[in-house]
Amino acid sequence: MYTAITTSLENAILLITINRPDKMNALNKTVLDELNSAIDEVYSNHAVRSAIITGAGAKAFVAGADISEFQGLKHNEGMDLAHKGQYIFKKIEDAPKPVIAAVNGFALGGGCELAMACHFRLASENARFGQPEVNLGLIPGYGGTQRLTQLIGKGRAIELLITGNMLDAATALQYGLVNYVVPQEELLPKAKSILELVNTKAPLAVGRCIKAANAVFDHTKDGFTEEVKLFGECFSTQDMIEGTTAFLEKRKPNFQGK
Ligand code: COA
Repeated sequence: MYTAITTSLENAILLITINRPDKMNALNKTVLDELNSAIDEVYSNHAVRSAIITGAGAKAFVAGADISEFQGLKHNEGMDLAHKGQYIFKKIEDAPKPVIAAVNGFALGGGCELAMACHFRLASENARFGQPEVNLGLIPGYGGTQRLTQLIGKGRAIELLITGNMLDAATALQYGLVNYVVPQEELLPKAKSILELVNTKAPLAVGRCIKAANAVFDHTKDGFTEEVKLFGECFSTQDMIEGTTAFLEKRKPNFQGK
């Protein structure tokens, strides 16, 4: 049913692959719409416990928004595009299940922004990160100015934003932009093995960890108050009873996500 992305579900992990390798997996309207639908599936499909976003081919994760769709756009249309990209990427960030980026090559512009909207990132050794919009007379519009600053700090973020320079994978690791750098053939196996571990944990607690961590950057919330609320909610779950009982009975818990 998708034309510009592919999805496959294995071991409760939804693998979402941006699939325009001849265009460096650039985010055109179709990719954005289909990505939006795939993220809706992460939210709504009970068989999905977590997701990986990656790019097709060995060269690019996503080399940005599709530049060919920018020409002729007016002020308001530019704002509409940014609203749409920000809406979808925030949906990724707010997902109640882990969504991680397996960055298999260039993650530029909207590609870097997509990776940063994910809960964390792994990179292959050939990955490159950057926000080259200034080369086009633009700035990032899908949350890049905000999330890059959150993830690597203001000085490093502004340098990258105003030079348009790319970071190699080793520097991205040093900056904390990615959690791991591995050879390309180990990228998906590594991402899957992390999520297979996460998928054994209490699903509602996993979702609440993400929500609490996201509250740090939500100016409408006090993160510590949010943590108290989410902690309290755990006590109303069957999984909390199961987890604590299983520990005391010295057996493995059987979580139902209830
Ligand atoms: N939008 C639209 N098309 C893109 C694209 C983008 N963001 N990035 C790459 N492509 C297309 C190229 O136009 C080319 O298409 P063609 O074969 O029909 O000419 C194809 O993908 C391959 O890209 P090419 O530039 O030939 O590959 P390369 O290996 O020489 O360079 C990059 C790779 C990623 C460094 C280079 O493509 C690039 O700089 N892309 C744009 C990055 C960018 O500015 N992103 C921010 C957008 S807001």
